This record gives sequence, structure tokens and C-alpha cells, in this order.
Amino acid sequence: MPKAELHVHLEGTLEPEMKFVLAARNGVALPYKTADEMRDGYVYHDLPSFLRVFYEGRKVLIEEIDFYDLCYAYLQKAASQNVLYAEMFFDPQQHTERGIAFDTVIRGLTRARVDAERNLGIRSQLIMCFLREQSAQSAMDVLLSALAYKADIVGVGLDSDEKDNPPAKFADVFRRARQEGFRLTAHCDVDQENTHAHIRQALTDIGVDRIDHGVNVLEDPELVALARTQGITFTLCPFANEVVRPGRGQEPIRQMLDMGLKVTLNSDDPAYMKGFYISENLQLAQSAAGLTPVDLLSMSLNAFEAAWISPSEREGYLIALDRFARAWGE
Ligand code: ADE
Ligand code: ZN
Repeated sequence: MPKAELHVHLEGTLEPEMKFVLAARNGVALPYKTADEMRDGYVYHDLPSFLRVFYEGRKVLIEEIDFYDLCYAYLQKAASQNVLYAEMFFDPQQHTERGIAFDTVIRGLTRARVDAERNLGIRSQLIMCFLREQSAQSAMDVLLSALAYKADIVGVGLDSDEKDNPPAKFADVFRRARQEGFRLTAHCDVDQENTHAHIRQALTDIGVDRIDHGVNVLEDPELVALARTQGITFTLCPFANEVVRPGRGQEPIRQMLDMGLKVTLNSDDPAYMKGFYISENLQLAQSAAGLTPVDLLSMSLNAFEAAWISPSEREGYLIALDRFARAWGE
């Protein structure tokens, strides 16, 4: 099925094998002997325990070519799964706080996007995320650095540790981002403390275009109504839900669809989540949430509809999806 991916963190696509290559290239020591041993060390039980392991990986990303290789490898994988278009998160603060220039990061990622489009035909854009445990001033500084690269960044988002870091903390930063023409999204991870307040703030104080995860909307009819009125799309990540809240199950996907909310399925941090890229996430959701082929088609349609692209580009993707659906008899 032709697909759009709207929720993938580029730093979360750093496969163990590539980590070893980059570590050797940059003279960085890793506390593992093999890629399999590294994978075995990827054990988490909630968002903070996941984030600790995830942030360890960044230390091998140093030169522009490292960011290029990371992004190109993801786009290659995505193209192999018939992703026609991807919006990819990156966290500049993960790198600038280690002394790596914003310019180094964005140049590597942008060159990879350009080459992947030319060589593989996959289109992509970047969404810059603020790390929510850092200060609003730090986020504003990143936003101001990004203004020189406006052409390369379509939107801004909010990720990382949600505890005590509500969206409202960043209201001024998001307001400025909107003024500068960026599209807006924010993570509201599953079952976080004060999740309903966070979803409400994302919708009202920030005025997001989308919410990343956000399944707890289901528990508050007022929030459901607000999300419907505002035409919000939720970028769900089936396997990531298992990581953040083991054993909680995939039923929310079915329930959100049945409530008429706009939902898409995505991969989040596939290299840290047992290699669940978008196709594996679709398969997981299909079996665990009882999705039909029509559900899967409608979520792919939702993703192309919610993508931050021009009407003419969207039209091309919708034609490809329609052609696929007809050939498939749906
Ligand atoms: N950064 C990378 N993946 C994330 C997630 N699922 N939630 C919050 N921050 C993240
Ligand atoms: Zn995410």
C-alpha cells in the first residue's frame, strides 16, 4: 500500500549496525561488542527508561556525513516499504548541547533528503522538535537558529520527557513558530501524568495541527469534541505504545477509528523498537486491534490528507492510493 509516515524520529532510526560504523569512524567507545548485544540492552518499561537508552545513541552522531547516513538509511528503508512521503522529526538540542552546530545537523539531513528523492523517488520533509525537559528559552534559541533554514523545515514539534513539562510551557515559542510559518505538532504520549491537561493545552494554548500519540483523548468526551472540531489528526505508533505502557494493548486504535477521529499509523523510533518500521506497525495494529483492509486504507488516506504538503503533491499521492485500492478491490 502506498504510505505516508508522519511520526518517525530520525535519531530513533539509528540501527545498532550503523552505530558501530559511526562509532569506529568517530573514535567513540561503545559499551557493547556486537549489534545483537546492543539490541539485547534495549530494555525499557516506560517513557523515561526508553529515553535514557535512546539518548545514549546520539554520541556517535558528530559529523555532517553521520547525519546524512542516518537520514539516507531511513529513507531507503521507508522507500522499500512503499512510503512515498515522510515527515521526519529531529531534535537539534540533542546535538547542539554537545557542541555540534545546528548547521552540521541540518546540512547532513537535507543533503540526504535531496539525494533520496533523486535516487529513490521518496519525498520527505523535516519537523524540528523541542526537548520538553529543557527550558522555553532554550527552545526559543533553537527556533531562532532555525529561521535561517526555514526552507528545509516544515514544522515544529515537542517531544521527550513529558512529566512536569506541559505544552503550555512552550506557548510563546510555538506562537513565534506559527508566526514564522511553521506547522505545529506536539507529543502527548500514552498514559503520562496530567495527560488530559496536556492534550487540552496542545489543542487550546498551542493550537497544534496534529497530536503525536494522544490516545488518552478517548477518556475525555470534551477533548474528543475539541479534536473533532479542530480537525486534529493523531499520529499513533502501535509498537511505541507497548514500549511506554507494556501490556496496555492496541484497542485505542480501534476505538479512535470508531469514534471518527482521524488516525494515522507510524513507526516512532524503529531502531530502538525491535525494527518495527511502518509496515511492521501496520501488521501489529491489524492483528492486535482487529483492523480491516479498509481501515488500513483509510488511515493511509488520513496520512496523505494530514501531510504538510501542497494540494498538487497531495493529489498525486491520492491518485496512487486510489489506484492501489482499485487494483486491490477495495
Ligand atoms: N523522542 C523519541 N521518541 C519519543 C517518544 N515516543 N516520546 C517522546 N519523545 C520521544
Ligand atoms: Zn514520537
